Amino acid sequence: MATEFFNNGEHRCIRFDDLSGEGEVQANQYLVIHGEKGMLLDPGGNKLFPSLVAEVSSFLPPQKLEYIILSHQDPDVGAGLNGFLLITDAKICFPSLWLRFVPSFCTKSFTEGRVLSIPDGGTRVDLNGAEVVLIPAHFLHSAGNIQVYDTVSKTLFTGDLGASLLPPDNQYHTVTDFEAHLQYMEGFHRRYMPSEKICRQWARMIWHMDIERIAPQHGAMFEGEAMVKRFIDWVANLRCGVSLLLDQETYQLP
Ligand SMILES: [Fe+2]
Ligand SMILES: [Fe+2]
Repeated sequence: MATEFFNNGEHRCIRFDDLSGEGEVQANQYLVIHGEKGMLLDPGGNKLFPSLVAEVSSFLPPQKLEYIILSHQDPDVGAGLNGFLLITDAKICFPSLWLRFVPSFCTKSFTEGRVLSIPDGGTRVDLNGAEVVLIPAHFLHSAGNIQVYDTVSKTLFTGDLGASLLPPDNQYHTVTDFEAHLQYMEGFHRRYMPSEKICRQWARMIWHMDIERIAPQHGAMFEGEAMVKRFIDWVANLRCGVSLLLDQETYQLP
């Protein structure tokens, strides 16, 4: 189902959350529209390409997509990119670290002149007059990883950070009870987020930003300043990654 969670007349943010095929991990795709132009975030794999194109088309002709942004290199983020290169003229924004892998899941001739390499320090892009900030979030969870801050809706799109895997009988769009929600994101973050130090650096970087909501690639969003701060604080104090693996003496031959 498409959910429009921001609309001020000129600027709109839409979330698609039920397009993943059977057996695939649930993923959210986000469309940000400013005036006549749009930006698509983490469009996902091949299986959902036709349905995503159909859904996007009900808000904006896909040819009006100015940017397609991939937060990192995972298949659930951009394996279906080739299709979008064929039907749009959108620029692909991709962390520079992963650039050399783009031809592995796209036809190289399609990508020439179309890829905007995001440097390690991040960058800012202009969406038809609206500023969008591409923020470095390396190792959260991928070695080259960016997050996207939409300055108009004040939404921080965090990719896999904040991801939750909700059970089929308890799907919800926004987190209302943070404590009850923890069970759906703790396991993933403990294993996929590699370093407590990195988590703290990230929390320090964004703590004073004006963020109205946090929108991850999987599961529910964190809405409102209090919930956003609660989430950032949780990340800052997360026990995860390397520390846990070392504690468990993982590295022993089977
Ligand atoms: Fe990922
Ligand atoms: Fe993901």
